[in-house]
Amino acid sequence: MTAPLCAQDYAEQARARLDPSIWAWLDSGGADEHTAHANLGAWPALRLRSRALRPLAGAHTRLTLNGRTLAHPILIAPTAWHGLVHPDGETATALAAAATGTPYVLSAQSGTAIETLAALPEPPHLWFQLYAQTRREDTLALASRALRAGARALVLTVDAPVNGVRNAEQRSGFSKPDTIRSVHLDGLSPPAARTAPPGGSPLFDSGLLDTAPTWDDVAWLRHRLPAGTPLWLKGILDPEDARLALAHGVDGLIVSNHGGRCLDTLPSTCEALPAIAQAVAGRIPMLVDGGIRRGTDILKALALGAQGVLIGRPALHALAVGGAPALAHLVQILRGELEVAMALTGCRTLADVDAGVLY
Ligand code: FNR
Repeated sequence: MTAPLCAQDYAEQARARLDPSIWAWLDSGGADEHTAHANLGAWPALRLRSRALRPLAGAHTRLTLNGRTLAHPILIAPTAWHGLVHPDGETATALAAAATGTPYVLSAQSGTAIETLAALPEPPHLWFQLYAQTRREDTLALASRALRAGARALVLTVDAPVNGVRNAEQRSGFSKPDTIRSVHLDGLSPPAARTAPPGGSPLFDSGLLDTAPTWDDVAWLRHRLPAGTPLWLKGILDPEDARLALAHGVDGLIVSNHGGRCLDTLPSTCEALPAIAQAVAGRIPMLVDGGIRRGTDILKALALGAQGVLIGRPALHALAVGGAPALAHLVQILRGELEVAMALTGCRTLADVDAGVLY
């Protein structure tokens, strides 16, 4: 196999290596996958504007997020169970994140405890993603545990109170092996699901929505977290929800449609971002994920109002191909591509990247 040169090369090599059912779990989208494909297609469809002879000396990609300086605007998105694609699991991800100065948003469905990653000789810059639990106290306990272990921000994912329709995954026969566990969720009460009566509503009679989180839960959590804890919401795709998030005092938004894995036929994040940026009007920072595969995609995300991007599937592809070194390599590839895109659109720093880079 030739050495991967870009995110797509890693995707192809991962597909060749992985069991087809794990590939389906990892790579597929919801239902007919319209949104998952739209995420991938929307960024390349935007055209860039070439600018010649602009001064580029002293160029860099530094930014400040949650009051900390980052070397570049790429984060690793929270994704479940890295042990399914590489034996070192989340430890490999953490090593790559630390080596490349990449913040790593650890999933609540991680197979490795946050304390283990924080105790690595060179721990990464960790954020922690959580879902609102059936009992509010459990959500707070998860958040407190993550903060105690050194998480520098919390990310509450709000776009998946129920699983999407995952036909590709179902067709593949995927089932998680018992050896891979969501270690942070052990011992917490799962939603009390009951079987709907014959002829009843499959979801609405299941009890699953009885404890589905609402904005009140965001307010509750916000007020119980230690002052100054950065609380981000992930899965905002509508300007009205962005306004509500602002009203609830959150510190940042991740514009996301869960990689197109939840509700199919939602807009791509590239399409959704501009209206959300307008609603937020710079009051809090925004990140975006979904279909980011090239440095040019990152540049466009910043041009549309995001401060940075997250990569979900590409990180898993690289892990599957070669563990920590491969993921570190992929991040460096994306950084390099971003820098080329900045140079050729005449942007010396991220502050220069605005809608003017779009054609
Ligand atoms: C996810 N995603 C996700 N999001 C989250 O908040 N918590 C989670 O545990 C997971 N788990 C997960 C597993 C897998 C296999 C995938 C592919 C995705 C969504 C993820 O954080 C992110 O929003 C998308 O993956 C971004 O799209 P791309 O980069 O995969 O196109």
